[in-house]
Amino acid sequence: MKIKYLILLCTWCALSCKSEPNPKRGAIAETAMVVSARQEASQIGSDILKQGGNAFDAMFATEMALAVTYPYAGNLGGGGFMVYRLNDGEIGALDYREKAPLAATRDMYLDSLGNVIPDKSTVGAYAVGVPGTIAGIFAAHEKFGSLPVETILKPVIALAENGFTITQKQEKRFAEYDSIISAVNGKQVLVNKTVKANTLFKNTALAETLKRIAKNGREEFYTGQTATQLVDFISRNGGIITMDDLLSYEAKWREPIQFTYDNLNVISMSPPSSGGLCLAQIMKMVEPYDISQFGHNSLKSMQIMVEAEKQAYADRSYYLGDSDFVNVPIQALLDGKYLKNRMTGFSFERATPSSTISYGDIPNYSMEISEGIHPQEHEETTHYSIVDQFGNAVAVTSTLNGAYGSKLFVEDLGFFLNNEMDDFSSKPGVPNVYGLIGGKANAIAPQKRMLSAMTPTIVERDDKLFMVLGTPGGSTIITSVFQTIMNVHEFGMTMQEAVDAPRFHHQWLPEEIRIEPGRFDKSLLKQLEAKGYTINETRTPIIGKVDAILILETGQLEGGADYRGDDSAIGF
Ligand code: DON
Repeated sequence: MKIKYLILLCTWCALSCKSEPNPKRGAIAETAMVVSARQEASQIGSDILKQGGNAFDAMFATEMALAVTYPYAGNLGGGGFMVYRLNDGEIGALDYREKAPLAATRDMYLDSLGNVIPDKSTVGAYAVGVPGTIAGIFAAHEKFGSLPVETILKPVIALAENGFTITQKQEKRFAEYDSIISAVNGKQVLVNKTVKANTLFKNTALAETLKRIAKNGREEFYTGQTATQLVDFISRNGGIITMDDLLSYEAKWREPIQFTYDNLNVISMSPPSSGGLCLAQIMKMVEPYDISQFGHNSLKSMQIMVEAEKQAYADRSYYLGDSDFVNVPIQALLDGKYLKNRMTGFSFERATPSSTISYGDIPNYSMEISEGIHPQEHEETTHYSIVDQFGNAVAVTSTLNGAYGSKLFVEDLGFFLNNEMDDFSSKPGVPNVYGLIGGKANAIAPQKRMLSAMTPTIVERDDKLFMVLGTPGGSTIITSVFQTIMNVHEFGMTMQEAVDAPRFHHQWLPEEIRIEPGRFDKSLLKQLEAKGYTINETRTPIIGKVDAILILETGQLEGGADYRGDDSAIGF
């Protein structure tokens, strides 16, 4: 009798363990956390919080620590976006996207026959947009920071001076990009294939630049010695950025995009990023469907998600650009009826061919493009998420665009310059490096900001802070953020599970679902093909590298640091 009871009990245990496996949780912190692409950067951000700093102080420190430890994307020579939510519920967004130089022209990357000149918008000084990162972190600090800049930069300068340990992944990337970096710079620079994993890496030139910034503030970068050296370096290398460009650069406070999904309120980046708007369109298009019932990465849920993505990216390519220069019809693109209409052709039977999808019709819309330098007043990448001990949250995505940006390294200053000009549409209909197509709305004009896909996002649930997230990944940023939110909200995953789950991506054109290689069941891919979808398992081996924080029922914070990189969640 006893044995029979024991067998029954064991069987019950085995069954219940099978149906409810222990969820895999990320790092847990009691009140404050930083999740970023590098352990050192998360540690410095978290230490700044421990010293009594707030999320904006930690943003400053983390951004600069990434510039030291993660030259692949962390930067002084690039730009980014920040979305915040204060502990009293106030929300806002900061745009420190690069701008086209004053001397930029619409056709600057075209030859005399009107064809795009290969590499001109991606490699070297001519591809560089006016950097915004230093203006961004100072603008955030000026408005919300609490610790002195010197205090914030002290550990970052020490890190650049004393060095940090190169990881295996870093060694591999240095080797992979060594030849192009050497070709562009005419020699090997600090970042090259001789740098080995587990060795110390120092950047004394960057330490000196940061010391001057600590002493002289924002102006050091835009009008001071650093500015003079930078402009001189760029012009010697064939670029067109002048002192006037740096002088006139401004970070801008923007109203974020905000929308509801079930009991969630999602707050994300507005133009000149397409991130928030496309995310809103996609989520609103899938909201009427019972996604959770279909199951995570099931045939049906993937079909719905992919078809909504196609519609949103078609709109993006036509309507979206820098809203200081172009009338972006935000309200019309988020209108409930408009979005419902966009999904009327959806069927579980067959894929909707991208050739039959175009941007949606918005009655009485006029694009009203300004091509001059008087804008109407009315974007490799890295993301970090911060929640401080006071309950403030910031989501920041920052970029040089390509890996090591334009590959041009300002040796005397210790940092790479972006190639963000490629995010403009060099020629309508011709795809950029991410295969994204743009049109008139995203044409180049002096002082205009290039359209971005960066999607730093904060999610409230039942009016309380719930999630902070974002990712690099070019065009796949929006769909990676989308899937991560769905993974938690619809499929009940922990933050870490949601970040680690296999991802897919569709961007309307090219007509293909990009799939993370080896992470989807072959039979599922066959079923998708049978429905008329093209599967591409090779184009994007890594789809997004999400760094996120989830606020648990207990009030504790769970970090989701993406296993795809060296990412790390640190808090207390
Ligand atoms: O702003 C954008 O959308 C792009 N420049 C982001 C580039 C990026 O995420 C590259 N990282 N993988």
